[in-house]
Amino acid sequence: MSQDIFHVLRSDQFDRSFLDELYEITNKLRKLARTKKGNDYLQTLISDKRAILYFTQPSTRTFLSFLNACQILGIQTSEIRDPNTSSEIKGETADDAIRTFSSYVDLIIMRSPRAGLADKIAKLLDETPRRVPVINGGSGKDEHPTQALLDIYTLRRSFGKSGGDIDGKSIAMVGDVCRGRTVRSLSRLMRHFEGAKVYFVSPDTLKIGDDLREDLKKNNVAFEETTDFENIIPVVDAIYMTRIQDEHDKDGESKHIDYSKFHFTYDHLKVLKKDAIIMHPLPRRKEIDVKVDADPRAKYWRQERNGMWTRVALIAKIFGIDKDITKPYGI
Ligand code: NCD
Repeated sequence: MSQDIFHVLRSDQFDRSFLDELYEITNKLRKLARTKKGNDYLQTLISDKRAILYFTQPSTRTFLSFLNACQILGIQTSEIRDPNTSSEIKGETADDAIRTFSSYVDLIIMRSPRAGLADKIAKLLDETPRRVPVINGGSGKDEHPTQALLDIYTLRRSFGKSGGDIDGKSIAMVGDVCRGRTVRSLSRLMRHFEGAKVYFVSPDTLKIGDDLREDLKKNNVAFEETTDFENIIPVVDAIYMTRIQDEHDKDGESKHIDYSKFHFTYDHLKVLKKDAIIMHPLPRRKEIDVKVDADPRAKYWRQERNGMWTRVALIAKIFGIDKDITKPYGI
C-alpha cells in the first residue's frame, strides 16, 4: 500500500514506497506532456482547484516551478510574495493571514523565513472546518522537503538510464551544511538507501547541527564530517554544492570564513569520477565555476526542470489523481 499524503512539511515524512511511486508518476507525466493531447488532458484533471503561493522569502526556482506545476494541472493560482502588500502590515499575524487563504483556496504552498511556520499553520488548519493541504516550499534554516524530493529524483535518474539506484552510493554535501535547509532535508532521505553514505564537507564553523547529527545516527545513515574537500572529490558518486547562507548571519560572521576552499573549480573535473555527478540547489555564487556547466556530469540545470515535474507529481498525489496519470484516459 502506498502512503497517502496531505500536508508536505518535512522530508522525514516520506517513506520509500512513496518515493518510488512519486517518481513513477513523474516519469509518466513527462511522457504525457510530450504531446498536446497529453498536455490538454493533464490540464483537465484538477481544473476545479485553486492554490495560493505565499512566498515571503526570496525565491526564483521553487516559486516558478510550483506555479508552472499548478498550471500544468489546470489549477488556478494567486500569490503573495511581499507581506507588506497583505494585511500583515496592519498588524495581522502570519497565522491569521494564512488562515484567511484557506477560505479561498484548496492548496497552500508557502515559503517563509520562519522555521516551523508551515508545521504550525498545518496544525492550525487541521483544527478548522476547512482543512487545506499545506506544502512547505522552504522554512527558515529548517526544512525544504520538495527540494529533497527533486534531488533524490535527480540522483536516481543520473545513476542509470531507467532510474538507477542510490543504494551503496556516496554523496558529498559541500559548503554551509549548518544552515542549508536543502542539506538537512536531503540527508534525512538517505535513510531509504542501503549502504548510501554522506560526507559533510564544510568549514569548521559551518558543521551540521547536533539535531541533524543525532537524527542521522538514530536512522542509521552512514556519514562523515570533514573540512578536506580536495580529498573527497575523487571518492564520491555525487557532489552537492551549496551557497553560504549569510542571510542567517547574526553579525556578518560569514565574511570571515574562507569559502574558496569549498568551491568546485574547472580543474576538479579531472579528478572527479567519470560517472559522478555535480548538483546544486541553486542559486549559485562562486561555488561552481561556470566553465563546469558544459561538462555532462553537471546536473544542476536539469535539477531545476526535474523540480517542476516532481512538484506536478506531488500535487497529483495530494489530490488523488495519480492513477489518472499512471493509467491515463481510463486505459
Ligand atoms: C535553496 C533554498 O532556498 O533553500 N534554493 C532553492 O530552493 N532551490 C538554496 C539556497 O537558497 O541556497
